[in-house]
Amino acid sequence: MNHKGKRLYEGKAKVLYEGPEPGTLVVHFKDDATAFNGEKHEIIEGKGVLNNRISEFIFTRLGEMGIPTHFIKRLNMREQLVRKVEIIPLEVIVRNVAAGSIASRLGLREGERLPRTIIEYCYKDDALGDPLVAEEHIAAFGWASGPEMDDMVQLAVRINDYLSGLFAGIGIRLVDFKLEFGRQYSQDGMVRTVLADEISPDSCRLWDMGTDEKMDKDRFRRDLGGLVDAYAEVARRLGIMGGDDKGVPNGPRLVKS
Ligand code: TMP
Ligand code: ASP
Repeated sequence: MNHKGKRLYEGKAKVLYEGPEPGTLVVHFKDDATAFNGEKHEIIEGKGVLNNRISEFIFTRLGEMGIPTHFIKRLNMREQLVRKVEIIPLEVIVRNVAAGSIASRLGLREGERLPRTIIEYCYKDDALGDPLVAEEHIAAFGWASGPEMDDMVQLAVRINDYLSGLFAGIGIRLVDFKLEFGRQYSQDGMVRTVLADEISPDSCRLWDMGTDEKMDKDRFRRDLGGLVDAYAEVARRLGIMGGDDKGVPNGPRLVKS
């Protein structure tokens, strides 16, 4: 495989390489699972393959409904080709139901529907543990411009509406999720805000609507086991993979494209 160029960056769950053409990158999905700012770490065989497929599926659907994204195409089991963007150093968290950090921070019961959808921002800085920040901090320190904030909020709301419906249709509650955005520069010097990174069970909370069973990375964070089975079930319900196919050891077959 010679589509990859120089290794540019290795993150906790992905590696970035130069792409075959200028302005492109190859994203490689690893099997590493981390939590609590990397303190907890395990290799979970098959996770990278599943996230690559699930994220491809979601970015493709979002692209079809007019959400600008960095995604170009999936290259193979673990890799996708994306447009190179300048990552805005924020995690945009969208919450429909109380869980995780908002539940502990505000003393809410996990599973309680929030009075309305809440959008939060964390400043992307591993050394600081990605602290929660207010729009005031973002504006004061110039992490994103006013128009970029408007773009991110509008896109996050549309993505939430679409994904909530998509998952509800397959019996899954979209509790919360994290988005990252980038600046895509075009040749004429224009900049636009595009969805970047990934959307997968690593970056969402997904609960089975019938049983409230967790089908996301909380299975790892909370030592519940069965992460690959849960991710494979999400993929199966999305129609990406066959029922008995967990992505390991031979990997998923394409059942529907
Ligand atoms: P939290 O409840 O821990 O703040 O997480 C909210 C959502 O954001 C949850 O779906 C997990 C996701 N998330 C990430 O994808 N990466 C992160 O670094 C954090 C903190 C959360
Ligand atoms: N992935 C993040 C980390 O490694 C946090 C998380 O998702 O819990 O810290």
